[in-house]
Amino acid sequence: MLSLNVNGVNHRVDVEPEMPLLWVIREQIGLTGTKFGCGIAQCGACTVHVNGEPVRSCSFPVSNAVNQKITTIEGLTSDSSHPVQMAWKALDVPQCGYCQSGQILAAVSLLKRIPKPTDKDIDEAMTNICRCGSYQRMRAAIHMAAGTGKGIGSIIHFAGSGVANAKTGIPTDLDIDH
Ligand code: FES
Ligand code: FES
Repeated sequence: MLSLNVNGVNHRVDVEPEMPLLWVIREQIGLTGTKFGCGIAQCGACTVHVNGEPVRSCSFPVSNAVNQKITTIEGLTSDSSHPVQMAWKALDVPQCGYCQSGQILAAVSLLKRIPKPTDKDIDEAMTNICRCGSYQRMRAAIHMAAGTGKGIGSIIHFAGSGVANAKTGIPTDLDIDH
């Protein structure tokens, strides 16, 4: 039996120590927001946080997560109120959505490390793959969540309730705490 703390809840799981953490999160614990994509640590769909650091859980043995603090998309907030989640919604980032839980956790980790990232910081940190090509919107949403005031010009279509510029009607920032 291994003991895991996922989203603040302790779980005892009867699995082989080398089983990938992703399998345990989805199949044993039943949290299916974390997705399987490539299975070889390339796409990032399976990203979770272990002690606040992004980890590709498809290639991370569950034994390495024992006694660590694991956070999945379900545990980021209870009401999708994280600034990154709010910016994602305001800019209508997801398309099919499959990659997005991993993208959001990667973005949250970036903003913890670099609260006001440049485009270069974002491009270097956001290495998760999106088959739908939502990269421009993700970059703009990260700028919005960070409150940098940049990146909005690359967005063509808006949805959601961002604070609109009086002249253009284009949201310039979110009314959120940083
Ligand atoms: S499923 Fe883990 S990186 Fe692709
Ligand atoms: S939104 Fe479809 S793969 Fe990223």
